[in-house]
Amino acid sequence: MASPVAYNPFDPEQVDRQEEILPTLRQQCPVAELMPGVFYVTRHDELTAVSRDADRFNQAPFRPLDEDTRRPDELQLGESNPPGHTRVRKIFQSVLSPPRVRAIEPRIARVCAELVDGFAARGSADLIAELGRPLPAQVIGHLAGIPETDRGYLHTYSDLVVASTQEQDPVRRQVAEDALVDFDARLLDLIRERRTSTSRPDDALSAFVDYRDDDGEALSDEKILLHLSKDMITGGIDTTTHLVGNLFYDLAITPGLYERIRADRSLVPAAVEESLRRRPVVSCLFRRPPADTEIAGTPIPAGSVVVLGYASANHDESVFPHPEVFDVDRGEALRRQLGFGWGVHLCVGASLARLEGALVLNAVLDRCANLRLAPGFEYERVRFFMMRGPVRLDVEFDPVPQSPLGLLGTSKARHDDSEIVTP
Ligand code: HEM
Repeated sequence: MASPVAYNPFDPEQVDRQEEILPTLRQQCPVAELMPGVFYVTRHDELTAVSRDADRFNQAPFRPLDEDTRRPDELQLGESNPPGHTRVRKIFQSVLSPPRVRAIEPRIARVCAELVDGFAARGSADLIAELGRPLPAQVIGHLAGIPETDRGYLHTYSDLVVASTQEQDPVRRQVAEDALVDFDARLLDLIRERRTSTSRPDDALSAFVDYRDDDGEALSDEKILLHLSKDMITGGIDTTTHLVGNLFYDLAITPGLYERIRADRSLVPAAVEESLRRRPVVSCLFRRPPADTEIAGTPIPAGSVVVLGYASANHDESVFPHPEVFDVDRGEALRRQLGFGWGVHLCVGASLARLEGALVLNAVLDRCANLRLAPGFEYERVRFFMMRGPVRLDVEFDPVPQSPLGLLGTSKARHDDSEIVTP
């Protein structure tokens, strides 16, 4: 049905107001035609059904309204469809498998502890600049096989890739694209060096360079660059930065919750999960049906854009009562949160992101008591339609001296993957 309220999910200013608009949309229709040929899925049941049905609802580009002249093999993983999707996803699944992720837990815990140590005695910090940005750049840099000397630039690179996809202003988008050229060239050098080297560290670069398909064909340098830069570096860095920002923002504004979790660390995984539900980092993504179809009785013509409204479905009252409340006691319902998507394209980095979220929260809980927003702090969201997270997060807290275990105290930080079922 035609939308009962005006909402443009591609306009960052309207996305800023999504919490006012989406409840009305969700209550009045499961599928709202927001503009000709653009259908927004508002509720949990319909969104998960569409996500499971990759044959009826193909993956669409991240800028679904633009003309797209790319060939299927030029699309990044999150935009592609089988058979190309299946092949590349398997490589990512092996690089980011739970055992491999668990193996780097001590390293991630150490990075978290060192970053928190950098501000803990001060009693104040910008948790984006001092934690949310450097943490995933270190982790993804290590997993991808980017030398430490190049990691300082990784987050800027990830920002530029996001801007080149989501920036509305064509001039600014072009500036971002131009700025990517040098680091792309550096990544290509790394790919070529790894091909000729006999050394094979256990990282994504090795996995991509050594990959052979059933006919013995290797991936081209350009294809490896595409997946390293867009799927691994950008998919894994900006998103995790926003998770850190959203998580600590809610913990700072929810009375009593931060101290409750400090006293009972078993609540840490639920806090990470609830953050992904309460403020999903990715507000929406897109599908495009190749043939005429329907969702909940609404006809969807072939070639339409179907918007998966994670920001709405994660607040579906029938699954998450009082959805605006940050509630770590939701129990089983939290297994249904959609912050990592659902179905065939479910986030392939979810285990890693969950672990980073749990470890960073434990590291802050260890050294900072009574976390609160700094006086005068005003929330500002990143300027893109698709992503949600604060640009900065100024907090104050009461410093806690480092425990005698110091940087080794990682045991309680474990995030057990079995706690959260993924579809
Ligand atoms: C808090 C952190 C993260 C969030 C919120 C997030 C969110 C998402 C979402 C919603 C999707 C679903 C796409 C769809 O259904 O179309 C997705 C897919 C994906 N994510 Fe993540 N992600 C995060 C972390 C990561 C990390 C750490 C990596 C890599 C290291 C990563 C790489 C990917 C890739 C490659 C896909 C595409 C999967 C496919 O299409 O098969 N993400 N992510």
